[in-house]
Amino acid sequence: MNRSVEPILGDSQIRKWFVKNLLLFRPPLLLYYIYMHQNLLIITQFISFLYSLSLLSLQHFTFGYCTMSPAMVMAAKTKQNDNLESQYQKGVKHLCENGINKVPKKYILPVSDRPNMKDRELINVKKQNLKLPIIDFAELQGSNRPQVLKSLANACEQYGFFQLVNHGIPSDVISSMIDVSTRFFELPFEERAKYMSSDMQSPVRYGTSFNQNKDDVFCWRDFLKLMCNPISDVVPHWPSSPVDLRRLMATYAKETKYLFLMIMVSILESLGLVGTTEHKTEEDEILKDFEDGSQLMVVNCYPPCPEPNLTLGIPPHSDYGFLTLLLQDEVEGLQIQHQDKWINVEPIANAFVVNVGDHLEIFSNGKYKSVLHRVSVNPMKSRISVASLHSLPFNYMVRPSPKLINEENPRGYKDTDFSSFLEYISSCEPKRKNFLESRKLC
Ligand code: OGA
Ligand code: NI
Repeated sequence: MNRSVEPILGDSQIRKWFVKNLLLFRPPLLLYYIYMHQNLLIITQFISFLYSLSLLSLQHFTFGYCTMSPAMVMAAKTKQNDNLESQYQKGVKHLCENGINKVPKKYILPVSDRPNMKDRELINVKKQNLKLPIIDFAELQGSNRPQVLKSLANACEQYGFFQLVNHGIPSDVISSMIDVSTRFFELPFEERAKYMSSDMQSPVRYGTSFNQNKDDVFCWRDFLKLMCNPISDVVPHWPSSPVDLRRLMATYAKETKYLFLMIMVSILESLGLVGTTEHKTEEDEILKDFEDGSQLMVVNCYPPCPEPNLTLGIPPHSDYGFLTLLLQDEVEGLQIQHQDKWINVEPIANAFVVNVGDHLEIFSNGKYKSVLHRVSVNPMKSRISVASLHSLPFNYMVRPSPKLINEENPRGYKDTDFSSFLEYISSCEPKRKNFLESRKLC
């Protein structure tokens, strides 16, 4: 009988079997195995990735927000605001140097305070032919003086502003003043920042906005304020850079002071207070007081603004002194209130815009008007202006001239001095004509 005996398989036979059964006849099984194994790897990796992610976010959640009390959230927000606030304190020039294409919230005025350019309120002087009165200083010194004095009186009563041409200040003194001011604002921030101070009485003060310690909304202006008297005492405190700043600005300050005195003589004459020989000593005394008087130079820089309709360079205000002599470059921006409308002041090369300040309104017992004005900003061009504010010495009382008080014109204002003005502006937001309003009787 033949019994079939299972042969014992040798090595080579095993290999053959393996090849036959697994590689040749069962390839799907192997592939499936490999496929499953890889997938398992991927899935395990994916799960561990998810797990680590969840751990991370759990950690974040636990140590980041979940454990923050409302007070901590507030503190974090306050810190962020403080950072922004400290940026704004560095000024608009610095803000623009870091590159912006929108006006930050801090500078956006409430809708009612914005300079709406399409507003029917705004009359473009060129279109409407509504120009400020022009006073020719050379003519004022000549035989036409009586007529020019009348025009001067009319300008101070009706507009509170006029343009002064042919004033005799050499044009290179003027162009150098604009030029050195431009160079000052182009200095690196750290150089300008040396002169930042919150002390209102400092002989030099670099700053931004109107009153950067009080303003809720900031305005689009940086400034350099220089006290000018006594000139030899204050100049050493003025910026030492650019190297020619002290020399050029001191020359400009002296020239404008002299011009102010000359205009004041005419103003006093137009009010009937000088020019009459019987009161010669009294007249000399008044003029001596103005000679010793205070002078503050404010160099304004208005960088280009990406959204000029949302903000202002300076909000509506009046100036505190007797007269302001304003030098503006060729870029428009100054607007004055006239018959409840805002009118643009057209820049005239080499001319000064002269305006009546609060002290002259008080001194003239309301005859001459200290008028509200503001500055709009420009999307393309940077603008520089220099306001030179002149008054009596700081400790002097300003009061209505007794000769201008009579039954028809009773005294309209309280006595006031510079220190009460300083107190006033450091105690409240000096917007609009609050200070003058506070000095009015009745
Ligand atoms: C000022 C002022 C106007 C201007 O400095 O008080 O009104 O055009 N400046 O910069
Ligand atoms: Ni002003």
